[in-house]
Amino acid sequence: MIYLDNAATSFAKPKEVVMAVCDAACRGCANPGRGGHSLSVSAGEVLYNTRGRIAELFNISDPERIAFCKNTTEALNFGIKGVMHNGGHIITTSMEHNSVIRPIKALGKQGVTHSILQADAAGNLDINRLEKMIRRDTRLIVMTHSSNVCGNIYDIEKAAQIARRNNVLFMVDAAQSAGTVQIDAQKVDLLAFPGHKGMLGPMGTGGLYVAEGVKIASIIEGGTGSVSESLTQPEFFPDILESGTQNVPAIAGLGAAAEFLLKEGVWAIRGHENELCKRFEDEIKNIENITIYGSGEKTAITAFNIVGADCVEVAQILNDRYGIATRAGLHCAYLAHKSLKTEEIGCVRASFGYFNTQKEVDYAADCLYKISKDLQI
Ligand code: ALA
Repeated sequence: MIYLDNAATSFAKPKEVVMAVCDAACRGCANPGRGGHSLSVSAGEVLYNTRGRIAELFNISDPERIAFCKNTTEALNFGIKGVMHNGGHIITTSMEHNSVIRPIKALGKQGVTHSILQADAAGNLDINRLEKMIRRDTRLIVMTHSSNVCGNIYDIEKAAQIARRNNVLFMVDAAQSAGTVQIDAQKVDLLAFPGHKGMLGPMGTGGLYVAEGVKIASIIEGGTGSVSESLTQPEFFPDILESGTQNVPAIAGLGAAAEFLLKEGVWAIRGHENELCKRFEDEIKNIENITIYGSGEKTAITAFNIVGADCVEVAQILNDRYGIATRAGLHCAYLAHKSLKTEEIGCVRASFGYFNTQKEVDYAADCLYKISKDLQI
């Protein structure tokens, strides 16, 4: 199998990650923060070490401001709902995943309003326009760092400056950029990230960073292992957002993944993935009737259609006949497809990872060429 679906989840994982998961599970995985015995303490160390490595990766000065979540969706829900519980107005963009749009729509039932910055047909956002969209009751701007459909990277630093000078919170969805694009969390108020995509960690991991001074309410309350005499949720980090037993083996894997990224270097990873993506696009752009979506600086995603061919059928042939994994359809991002004018037809998405090779890319491009001939559109 040639795996070109790294935007959904990265595969394969570094062997260090797999070993760390096994090691944590095998050596005795007790409940962190719930006991004074050695196994509980060493499980607590796993969380501590992983938080530290993630903080280093994102330039976060206080690792305790990182709460582990089971994925970016959970982190986004914690962040968006946690800062908007008193109502107000949110600004977001049309390039968002449903994990941003749906929590915002759900908050609408509690009177929270929103505005959407529309992208152009190449998936570009005019970030300067955010400033004009800010109202007196705007409390949050939340946007993706990179589109999960076409890969376009957005200028979050500029958006952060606009938010800051207007006294509005700024939250970034780093689902597609964490681990492959350098992120400086000092510039944002909230950062939601996955553990299992570009971070190269296990599924079921992710997190939310909340900057010092940002007021956030808990969405889920429960046991934290701390202040058990209190009948209300602790207000300190990370306990305010970390109710219930943590997934220690997976977090051990995430720690090993963060260490791997620090060792290899995010720029080196990005360089390799970009090279593969560019090579693939250079090779397929001469296929008759091919349309490639997105433009400018991108993460390693190629979104395309063979005009007249059903995107799901193309992806199925890639899988069934050639053993190539891609993702076709609407990618849980209907508004992004609407901006790209593909909401009726969807598209095929090939997404490249650190362990893909040039040989795989050349083979995939060749297969796509054959498919376009076979379909004779
Ligand atoms: N959000 C993931 C994707 O874009 C699952 O495929």
